[in-house]
Amino acid sequence: MTERGRAIVLIGFMGAGKTTVGRELALLTKWPLYDTDDTISARYGMPIADFFDSRGEETFRDAERDALATIPRHRAIVATGGGIVLRPENIATLRALGPVIYLEADESTLFARVASGGERRPLLETEDPRATLAHLLRAREPLYRAAADLSVDTTRFRPAEAAQAIVRHVG
Ligand code: S3P
Repeated sequence: MTERGRAIVLIGFMGAGKTTVGRELALLTKWPLYDTDDTISARYGMPIADFFDSRGEETFRDAERDALATIPRHRAIVATGGGIVLRPENIATLRALGPVIYLEADESTLFARVASGGERRPLLETEDPRATLAHLLRAREPLYRAAADLSVDTTRFRPAEAAQAIVRHVG
């Protein structure tokens, strides 16, 4: 079996705190932070929401897979988009990078965060975003759990506390 890398990989639904906890982890470890959404935005020169509007979800998933392939397998923090687990091949890539941490939060916390975040979430731009979130969360939850080595509940932990718990676990 190929040895796993030393990166710490964060997965979870929109609003789970992957970027925020990722920044805390980068501060704690002094490791570089890679964010698949940022990689895609930089590569295509547009915000993720514009990419969704102009190219559609499937093209975005291709770009996400390609972004993941560019992340080096060494000490790093990797924050991902909430849909990264939808492609089974991505799960193998994530697990090869290093320990995979599922950041979870309850449905109402996730909704409150995405509603107040000021960032466009194209998948939630429906007639009933709350119901869409609930539906997507139910469908994805088993994928997050199956991919992860550890779950950390960000409903109860502040980002810095979550980062410390993760470092203790993987350290
Ligand atoms: C998505 C989550 C977003 C972004 C895109 C699709 C998803 O990232 O990748 O809008 O499918 O859940 P965040 O989880 O950082 O919001």
